[in-house]
Amino acid sequence: MRHLIVPEDLSAAEIEAVFAVSRDLETKFTAGRRDALLPGRVLGLIFEKQSLRTRVSFQAAMAHLGGSSLFLGADTGFASSRESIADFGRVLSEYVDVIVCRSKAHDTIVQLAEVSSVPVINGLSDYCHPCQALADIYTLRQHVGRVAGLTLAFVGDGNNMARSLAVVCGLLGMKFVLAAPPAYQFDDGFRKHLATIMPDAEIIETTDPVAAVTDAAVVYTDVWTSMGQEQERAKRLADLAAYQVNEQLMQHCPEALFMHCLPARRGEEVTDGVIDGPQSVVVEEAANRMHVQKGLLAWLLGHA
Ligand code: CP
Ligand code: NVA
Repeated sequence: MRHLIVPEDLSAAEIEAVFAVSRDLETKFTAGRRDALLPGRVLGLIFEKQSLRTRVSFQAAMAHLGGSSLFLGADTGFASSRESIADFGRVLSEYVDVIVCRSKAHDTIVQLAEVSSVPVINGLSDYCHPCQALADIYTLRQHVGRVAGLTLAFVGDGNNMARSLAVVCGLLGMKFVLAAPPAYQFDDGFRKHLATIMPDAEIIETTDPVAAVTDAAVVYTDVWTSMGQEQERAKRLADLAAYQVNEQLMQHCPEALFMHCLPARRGEEVTDGVIDGPQSVVVEEAANRMHVQKGLLAWLLGHA
């Protein structure tokens, strides 16, 4: 049994295997076919934070695959004083075939996976967001036909999204560049981790957004204040003001795609002109969440 807690839980070959199933299911779906690969299977979704894309794309994916899903919000008492995470996970995994968890603290998902008798998928934690990064690189592949050798420039906060993309880019032979103020770049622990798991990966950090985006195939940004950081909002707005992805910055990479995981804070990390402009593929990325997660569910449950 396998889990997807961090992106590096999958090898490059396994990511390609998931993408192949995703592509096949997407092609059939676009042609009006919904292959019931998972009849009778049940997905449990435990969410400690808000979500549109992750929640709905997983629930729709399960319905299309012939299975069903249960959304478990705050009223189930997960990670509260009601019962331990271990008791919750042991019991829930008796009822469902696969679990998606969006947690405040990454360690909560780790603890859940340790006791779960079914696969656990990270639906976002403060540390990483593997499903989004997979859908983003799948989107790039659809546009360019290949990904190895291409550069993804991430401009803004070196957050859960930036960490996930750095790993997926490294695994797939892409160059990853983070443009951020020093305090918003990766910490030493994560840098060491990257060097350990992917010693040959090209991962660069800079304070210069123009240098980062020049020659990039993708310019990516995410909110400056992630869920759970609301207290730091004023400081983050001031610290990251020079890292907005706007029309002026995009002039340095007229061929690049613009990506954002959404939700976006328009006028902060990105301008309307860029996110609604001709280089933007943000809605495709969101749509591809469902296709890639179908591939992932089928692969994890052994029906790929
Ligand atoms: N990108 C993403 O995960 O969106 P949600 O927070 O709406 O799920
Ligand atoms: N970095 C954002 C991503 C949302 C999908 C957050 O954690 O809130």
